[in-house]
Amino acid sequence: MGQRHDQQTVKVGLGKRSYDIVIDPGGVQRLGTYCQALGLSGKVGIVTNPTVDRYYGASLRKAMVNAGFTCRTIRVPDGEQAKTVRWTSYILDQLVKHRFERRSVLMALGGGVVGDVTGFAASLYLRGIPFVQVPTTLVAQVDSSVGGKTGVNHPLGKNLIGAFYQPVLVLCDTETLHTLPRREWLAGLAEVMKYGVIIDKKFFAFLEERMGHLLDVKDEDVIKVVKRCCEIKAWVVAKDEQESGLRRILNYGHTIGHALESLGRYKRYIHGEAVGIGMVHEALLAHHLQLCSASVVHRQRELIQRTGLPVHMPVHSFSKLWAAMLHDKKVSQGIVHCVLPKSIGNVQVTPLEQRVVKRWYARGVNLPTRGPADAPFTRRSSR
Ligand code: NAD
Ligand code: GLY
Repeated sequence: MGQRHDQQTVKVGLGKRSYDIVIDPGGVQRLGTYCQALGLSGKVGIVTNPTVDRYYGASLRKAMVNAGFTCRTIRVPDGEQAKTVRWTSYILDQLVKHRFERRSVLMALGGGVVGDVTGFAASLYLRGIPFVQVPTTLVAQVDSSVGGKTGVNHPLGKNLIGAFYQPVLVLCDTETLHTLPRREWLAGLAEVMKYGVIIDKKFFAFLEERMGHLLDVKDEDVIKVVKRCCEIKAWVVAKDEQESGLRRILNYGHTIGHALESLGRYKRYIHGEAVGIGMVHEALLAHHLQLCSASVVHRQRELIQRTGLPVHMPVHSFSKLWAAMLHDKKVSQGIVHCVLPKSIGNVQVTPLEQRVVKRWYARGVNLPTRGPADAPFTRRSSR
């Protein structure tokens, strides 16, 4: 691949299905060259939504056409509503209609929603065609574009239909993050912090030191952060592609987070916001279970609060919260498995007993507060 001084590469080592994550500010304009270098050619279906298309569609198409590709843009609606079997079917219809072949390429230009539905369609068409991820949100660059989890929602649950299907290339053009709405940027930072807690205490300390720069979206720090998160995710995925063990640690904050998303009908919180609240409360639960010290909770809560992300649990009865937690994909034989921190940089997967969580929930938080920003945790009902 043509090297640029500010381009960096992280490899996802999966044998014959290995691929590069290229972190290249402004790289959308060079995507045709990257694809050529992989031996790709011919037709490319660019799946995107109207918002992202408006910003980056034209430059991406230009880059691909200049490299000899024939482009077909396939637009899906903006938002989670595009993650359905129906929109997967629409993408497949377009591929059939325009005679896409086994060697044709499907490309996802957008956030996690576009990436998930496009990857799923790529896994199905002709039993799998090459798939390129061009993530344009922080969540997608540090998480969803890497690792091959693709899929869509069912009316009864999120991400219930899908496949493990790896891309042939991930291009993280960090310049695209400059147009991201502020709320989406902050939500992505919660997923970034997650990596520090699960595996890398130095990275967590770096985030504590540089959060000001990240809040200002300073390029140098953004690139460092995207790269480190991709390295961690690539390492975890290479060790456990299909989540039979280690990969479960990536779900830290998600057992409570997913429950809150679903209780809020996917309107109250966007994903990263719910994950931030989930991280704080899974840490509190770990502290209650005497797995970690109070400082493990305080450091996470402080860092999340500095971003302005919510940290407080909305009021829900325990029975509702528990029922929502039981819908999580990590439930096995009726037991909720939750990732809990032992220290910053070290977590364990723990089966949760309902009565234990209920007792914790009924008590609320018993950590001392640390000034006005650290308001006490309150809860009205445990029933
Ligand atoms: P998203 O894809 O909905 O994007 C958020 C918003 O930002 C959208 O309105 C989008 O149009 C807009 N947008 C995207 N890029 C932009 C840009 N550069 N400039 C301006 N606006 C832009 O949300 P997301 O947070 O990226 O992804 C969430 C989805 O990802 C969820 O469905 C979640 O389940 C999934 N996910 C999947 C994995 C995985 O491993 N596959 C991991 C995490 C999350
Ligand atoms: N986002 C969790 C995973 O990829 O496993």
